[in-house]
Amino acid sequence: MAITGVLRAAMMQLRVLDLETSVDFYTNVVGLFEVGRTSDGRVLLKGYDEFDHHSFVLRKAETAGMDFMGFKVASDAYLDFLAGRTKEFGLPVEIVPANADQPGVGRRVSTRVPTGHRLDFFADIEESDPKPSILNPEIWSVEPRGIGSATFDHALLFGPGSAETVRYLMEVCGFAAVEKGLLPDGNTFVTWLSCANRAHDVAVLEFDQPGKLHHVAYKLDNWNDIGHAADIMTMNEVTIDAGPMRHGATRRQMIYFFDPSGNRLETCTSGYAFYPDMPVRVWDFDHIGKGIFYYTRQLNDNFLKVVS
Ligand SMILES: [Fe+2]
Repeated sequence: MAITGVLRAAMMQLRVLDLETSVDFYTNVVGLFEVGRTSDGRVLLKGYDEFDHHSFVLRKAETAGMDFMGFKVASDAYLDFLAGRTKEFGLPVEIVPANADQPGVGRRVSTRVPTGHRLDFFADIEESDPKPSILNPEIWSVEPRGIGSATFDHALLFGPGSAETVRYLMEVCGFAAVEKGLLPDGNTFVTWLSCANRAHDVAVLEFDQPGKLHHVAYKLDNWNDIGHAADIMTMNEVTIDAGPMRHGATRRQMIYFFDPSGNRLETCTSGYAFYPDMPVRVWDFDHIGKGIFYYTRQLNDNFLKVVS
């Protein structure tokens, strides 16, 4: 196995204002499957093409936003390595015992990065149904529903101190910068980062408020599914922020839309495969609109203002 260390973005716990309205939205529109509930009332969900026990957790709260983003790593031994390196970097480390608050998930190394986001890393997670079959596998074991979200994909995080968060992800966690966007003075204000082979697993953008979520994304199978997703969203009166569209950065085809609590979601497909020998692709300030929204070539009013 050539990929070691952090394997992929794999989980998010999201705050929602009304739990049952959100469960209905995330199962019937987004197409996730409910796999369980915790004793404190959180709801565990997953995409139809994931082995992992769950990739999404809904927690009822007074404000929308994210509690933490989770990453799957290659081995339990790497967690110890990561905990030590994170402390050396100067960030706090909490070891969360297995099954403490996430059923089916092994022990986690948890930290809070300079942008204010909690990031958790885990090596072990049980499987749950539905999941892909492995013997003479069909293309799905249960028919996708709603927009057909297949797998957890990535998130865009907004916060102050983004350069230090990016430095932590690259120097400690082994992420590579895939693309970046520049301010007029040449300083970086957004960086797309990959830990393995995706065009990106996480992106970080400089922002004055800490711990903000711009969007979290699930992957669909193809561009036709993106069109189908737009139909489903319209029939369900979902608020669409942008798209169907393509990002210039990472070349992902996508739709931005909002959940009933105001959390921005993305459904995406395609994009290129990343390899660590690739040079960083750069968007200068005059072309960043094209980097985000390739067809309109300009940012919409919401992009830099609406976060949760
Ligand atoms: Fe995205």
